[in-house]
Amino acid sequence: GDAATALTLADIARQAEPRLNPAVWDFIEGGAGDERTLAANRAAFDRIWLRPRVLTGSGVPRVGTTVLGRAWAAPFGIAPLAYHTLAHPDGELATVRAAGAAGIPVAVSTFAGRTFEEVAEAATAPVWLQVYCFLDRAITENLVRRAERAGFEALVLTVDTPHLGRRARDARNGFTLPPHVRPANLPSLDDISPAEHARARFDPALDWSVIDWLRSTSSLAVLVKGILTAADALRAVEAGVDGIVVSNHGGRQLDGVPPTLDVLPEIVTAVAGRCPVLLDGGIRRGTDVLVALALGADAVLVGRPVLHGLAIGGQDGVAQVLDTLRAELADAMSLAGVAAVDRAGPDLVTAAGPRLR
Ligand code: FNR
Repeated sequence: GDAATALTLADIARQAEPRLNPAVWDFIEGGAGDERTLAANRAAFDRIWLRPRVLTGSGVPRVGTTVLGRAWAAPFGIAPLAYHTLAHPDGELATVRAAGAAGIPVAVSTFAGRTFEEVAEAATAPVWLQVYCFLDRAITENLVRRAERAGFEALVLTVDTPHLGRRARDARNGFTLPPHVRPANLPSLDDISPAEHARARFDPALDWSVIDWLRSTSSLAVLVKGILTAADALRAVEAGVDGIVVSNHGGRQLDGVPPTLDVLPEIVTAVAGRCPVLLDGGIRRGTDVLVALALGADAVLVGRPVLHGLAIGGQDGVAQVLDTLRAELADAMSLAGVAAVDRAGPDLVTAAGPRLR
């Protein structure tokens, strides 16, 4: 059947498309503006070549790692994605079950389609809460407290979204959520007065003091997601964050920003080991993971492929995505002579074109 013929994440995406409503597919796949940044995230990996070392005696590669004191079975986790229930009715429950079996963490969106309590109950690997800050801080505070009480282990504050980017596909499709898909952890707009609706919007004027505010609300580790410059990475370290996610939101926010892979080295240099640096955007092959590690990422996050997995087979489909990526990474490490993920360094890669010098 289908599953046997899907050998790569690209195969899984091709199988997912006809299973989803076209407007839902566009919502998942699309980006902001002309989708330049969306395309660039992928193209950046195609400009890098691997420089394998031979006869290294390295044996079976060790793909596990440790991030924020927790063991990950592979150096990738699942990026926060709104409404997994768009792709499969089990939604985030299927995702955390597959991630638990694979031994990798999941960042659960503020806009999850299932409740934090049921997600935590189904999880056997770390779950993190992705935080959007609403004008009404009490809404955000409530989400953070609930997630912490349920056993979530970290907060990932998304800092590239003072408002949602302009996504032409969604505007053209007049995209709205199907009736069975709801933000399960937010008070329904029907339950609050029209006057309060505005306060359920994102705060468009956040500044760095939000980090201290989060710390006053919760004892969980705080990561910031959406850093694209060395200057902001330094500012984040000064603000005392526990981790940085180099991200352009999968090309869904400001179109025209660089691909994440291109800005990774300057950010890694600026951070200088003071906190973990993660990257997301365009990770579709094991070699992409290896290249990001070589350029200094401690781990990466995977976005859209997880929704493709959900669409083709719920928990099993997500498991197939994660297993494929892990197998490809192990293959690449073995063939490149990389014994363990912390051995991947800048010597492992080169930009396309002849090396002159
Ligand atoms: C996202 N992303 C996202 N990010 C976030 O911080 N909160 C969210 O709720 C969402 N929701 C969301 C929905 C969908 C459908 C997509 C595709 C993306 C962004 C996500 O975390 C991540 O940055 C990108 O998806 C990574 O790029 P790839 O792996 O999809 O190329």
